[in-house]
Amino acid sequence: MRLDKLLNECGLATRSEASKLIRKGGVTVNGVPAKSGGDPVDPEKDAVVFCGRPVEYRKFTYILMNKPEGTVSSTDGKDGDTVISLLPPELRKIGLFPCGRLDKDTVGCLLLTNDGSLSHFLLSPKRHVDKKYFVRCEKYVSDSDLALLSGGLDIGNGEKTAKTDVMRISEKEFEITLREGMYHQIKRMVERTGNSVVFLERTSFAFLTSEPTLGRGEWRYLTPEEEERLKRYDKNTNGR
Ligand code: URA
Repeated sequence: MRLDKLLNECGLATRSEASKLIRKGGVTVNGVPAKSGGDPVDPEKDAVVFCGRPVEYRKFTYILMNKPEGTVSSTDGKDGDTVISLLPPELRKIGLFPCGRLDKDTVGCLLLTNDGSLSHFLLSPKRHVDKKYFVRCEKYVSDSDLALLSGGLDIGNGEKTAKTDVMRISEKEFEITLREGMYHQIKRMVERTGNSVVFLERTSFAFLTSEPTLGRGEWRYLTPEEEERLKRYDKNTNGR
């Protein structure tokens, strides 16, 4: 593959930045300074060093983001307000997309990847990946409302939610676990109880959780261990 493509896929630079840096002598391949972005490299065999740092080739990239309010979880937003626009330029061009969707006003845990088969695997209804949400409602939520939410509800358009776990947090707040993903699911469920959602945060996706160290709009790469655990995710073992 081309050297500039490899550096771009590793999220180190855009292809044009990589080419400029290569021409300035900032990249070596097997100890020899590379000449141009078009130099061929074998990512499995060649030792590439970028600005003094050995490059570890990653075919795919996996990112955990703490989605802020007001961003769209898609790749093409009209006003540059997508979650992808929160990433640095070199990561905006490697085909990352959100694994599942959160509404514009929902915040919290969002996995971004360019690994289509992992995304497909995790979003498959058979997989039943646990997604936990913190929900704050406009009005008091009674115990019978919580029972309705956990028991499975007809939310219109011929859609019925599955039974699930719901736990009270306060008079107007609760935690709910979804293992499916219908459009505006929680908001529609809450509306069926005569209430409405005023704040929604996804606190976990599989074993990945919102972390206090990751502020809204911040992100980090998954560790190799987390990547492996996601790839062999099984609801009964939580990927262990
Ligand atoms: N349910 C909703 O209503 N919105 C979300 O963003 C996620 C789940």
